[in-house]
Amino acid sequence: MRKNIIAANWKMNLDRTSAFLLAEKILQEINSKQDSLDIILACPYVYLYEMNILCKDFHNVHIAAQNCYSESAGAYTGEISVSMIQSLGVNYIVLGHSERREIFQENSLELQKKVDLAIQHNMNVIFCCGENLHDRENNVHFDVVKKQLKHSLFHLSSNDFSSIIIAYEPVWAIGTGQNASSDQAEEMHKFIRSLVQENYGEHLAEKCSILYGGSCNPSNARELFLSENIDGGLIGGASLSSSDFIKIIESV
Ligand code: PGA
Repeated sequence: MRKNIIAANWKMNLDRTSAFLLAEKILQEINSKQDSLDIILACPYVYLYEMNILCKDFHNVHIAAQNCYSESAGAYTGEISVSMIQSLGVNYIVLGHSERREIFQENSLELQKKVDLAIQHNMNVIFCCGENLHDRENNVHFDVVKKQLKHSLFHLSSNDFSSIIIAYEPVWAIGTGQNASSDQAEEMHKFIRSLVQENYGEHLAEKCSILYGGSCNPSNARELFLSENIDGGLIGGASLSSSDFIKIIESV
């Protein structure tokens, strides 16, 4: 009943030529077996328009922005609004990535504003959450994730919440080569699903796709995705290689 999703997060990597070569290779290798799976490519703003055109004939491939600004328009030099992204025909967006939270100091209130704007513009949101190493060592990882979700997501109506995909990304696993074990990830995913159930009931909890992110690669993907509450992945480093990314897609 839940959608399996593999999303690539290219971050601030790839020049235009390499980005399109990578996307073309991925599209070439996607075959009918991957039809039941959604594939999302979160690419830099400057490639969104053309990337969306490139993928338009693949009904299960979607292009996502990696961020947007928390205001709808105005004197914010250098920023990009949700309506601008929507006007490109793009209807997925990643919000709350830990790099945004840590490097750009995005807090829960700002993320709540971004979520609201994204929902108002009919976007599907991949909302990232996850604890840092200090939180885990102090055994407060469940509290941290609960707060992140509560403060930025759980004000949404049930109808709006149905456009949310959650990505659990423990910060200590991102880009470190040290993925969460499938037990650690499943434990948190189960907890997140229980929070969705508390707030929105069984039906939406069962429908909500929860992705794992953090050093997911072709060697650990299958084991992670076998877990009951892990519905796919948000892939950083390994999404920059078409062969690795395809192997991860084939692991679902
Ligand atoms: P990683 O990044 O796969 O390189 O750890 C995941 C992410 O940041 O979304």
